[in-house]
Amino acid sequence: MQDFLTQLPNVELHLHIEGSLEPELMFALAKRNNITLPYATVAEAKAAYHFNDLQGFLDLYFQGMNVLRTEQDFYDLAMDYFKRARAEGVVHIDMHFDPQAHLQRGVALDVVMAGLLRAKQDAESSLDLSVGMIMAFLRDRPADEALHVLESAAPYWKFLDAIGLDSAERGNPPEKFQALFARAKALGLVRVAHAGEEGPADYIEQALDVLDVQRIDHGVRCLESDAVVQRLRESQTVLTVCPLSNVSLKVVDDLRDHPLPKLLAEKLKVTISSDDPAYFGGGLLVNHMACAEAFGWDEAVFRQLNRNAIEEAFISEDRRQQLL
Ligand code: HPA
Ligand code: ZN
Repeated sequence: MQDFLTQLPNVELHLHIEGSLEPELMFALAKRNNITLPYATVAEAKAAYHFNDLQGFLDLYFQGMNVLRTEQDFYDLAMDYFKRARAEGVVHIDMHFDPQAHLQRGVALDVVMAGLLRAKQDAESSLDLSVGMIMAFLRDRPADEALHVLESAAPYWKFLDAIGLDSAERGNPPEKFQALFARAKALGLVRVAHAGEEGPADYIEQALDVLDVQRIDHGVRCLESDAVVQRLRESQTVLTVCPLSNVSLKVVDDLRDHPLPKLLAEKLKVTISSDDPAYFGGGLLVNHMACAEAFGWDEAVFRQLNRNAIEEAFISEDRRQQLL
């Protein structure tokens, strides 16, 4: 199965590049930038990666990215993941990144964008890996801050494939960001949002109705509402489901209890992604292998899931036809 999966044209629609920061690189960047980490060793860092919920993870995620200071740091972060993903057969990644998490530490948007865009260019020219750019906004921060960041990103709008919405979901409903998403739409930017990970099915409806999103990231809690399931089935809105993330953050207790088989039985447009591979046990291949084992999926299921992702990926039509 591993050989079969590796030779598929694998596409990942839901990946936070800051969540791909492996402890080994975190230590190297800490040394380069003279930063003291709260861990003595890589093993100690890995041992700390046990979470009770989304917030518990976010605390370590924001702490970990503190080592990212220079353009070269962002380049190294992205290239490190791109090379690993490519070696597992990934051919396209739609990558979320969190400008506010860097701005609030005093790292300018120009630094973040220069490093990430250079990595994207090198991946596309030398790794045969295409990369989509999703500028994500932190939903637990003020809505007017997000709007300000989007406006200040004007020089980069042409490089963005979409805007997204991530971070702590509960208590931060999609409607909080109505103005941000309306502005992005007016700019001609595609919209995606995390919804129905820890938040209720109602947040999925809000993301569709109020934010006019093209994708739902996670979306697993749609199953709590028949009406939402029916709507997602009829619209064939893609769900970027992240199985090992959901286990790590205790959205489900065990992968065998994960709603993925139910989502497929409901004929929803499901894709599989790794979310934050450095924190949740591995990249797309590890997620695929875990699903094969937990659900007994055969090759046809993985072919279909990747086909769904290729159909929805932020790529040119030529590249889509080439991958399909
Ligand atoms: N959910 C919400 N925000 C995030 C995540 C996630 O899984 N990963 C990084 N930011
Ligand atoms: Zn995510």
